[in-house]
Amino acid sequence: MEQRPRLRIPNHIGVIMDGNGRWAKARGKRRTEGHIEGVKALRNLVQLCIRYGVAHLTVFSFSSENWTRPKDEISFIFNLLRRFVASDLQNLIRNNVRVRIIGSREGLEPSLVRLIEDVEAKTASNTGLVLIVAFNYGGKAEIADATRRIAREVAAGRLSPEAITEDTIAGALYTAGLPDPDLIIRTSGEQRISNFLLWQAAYSEFVFVDEYWPDFDEASFVRVLETFALRDRRFGGIEAKQP
Ligand code: IPE
Ligand code: IPE
Ligand code: MG
Repeated sequence: MEQRPRLRIPNHIGVIMDGNGRWAKARGKRRTEGHIEGVKALRNLVQLCIRYGVAHLTVFSFSSENWTRPKDEISFIFNLLRRFVASDLQNLIRNNVRVRIIGSREGLEPSLVRLIEDVEAKTASNTGLVLIVAFNYGGKAEIADATRRIAREVAAGRLSPEAITEDTIAGALYTAGLPDPDLIIRTSGEQRISNFLLWQAAYSEFVFVDEYWPDFDEASFVRVLETFALRDRRFGGIEAKQP
């Protein structure tokens, strides 16, 4: 019988959900249909994380560099986010999911910002899976925003430059208070970070899979967890450590 390695469940998984457009193209469909299927795969992943006991899940849904895409595609993705919230909010609440949206809110329509604030407020007291949606997110922009915030504190005389530590920076990022991801998954065969969680990924394990995002299912998820279970995480030391 095939020996399956024991699963080790990461406390925090980050996912670069890539390949919606190619998934659609391979089927002779429009890119937008790939994004619709991508939302289904996301819904499924949320359920998987709940079932397998993952505490935090961060998904990359729109990057600050995705603004270079055609206008139509951008508004389609934005409308998908609105529809996802409208259709899934009650279910997320029932499943005890707490939602947090990270990214820049500048340049977003006021009604979208209100929607984001509303989802966060309505799920704030939930105690189950923390679902972090990286929307209009870029790691470099996040670090620039954090630097600006810290510089303001220094300029106001509330913080001395000598007092700035890694914790000061971590606390000024959009992800303040959240643990760093243990595992980052990227689908679609691309092997790059594309400006996702630059600071937070310092010691994350990366697993790249060939499936396009809409095809990522439970079997793919378990395969990734098996790969993760075989990794030695040394954090600069000599012995493998569990965080
Ligand atoms: C990921 O799929 C979704 C977003 C970036 C919004 P893509 O749209 O990047 O699909 P590909 O990479 O072009 O196939
Ligand atoms: C990364 O995918 C962003 C998201 C998944 C939202 P991209 O498709 O934008 O990344 P590149 O352009 O291939 O690096
Ligand atoms: Mg892509």
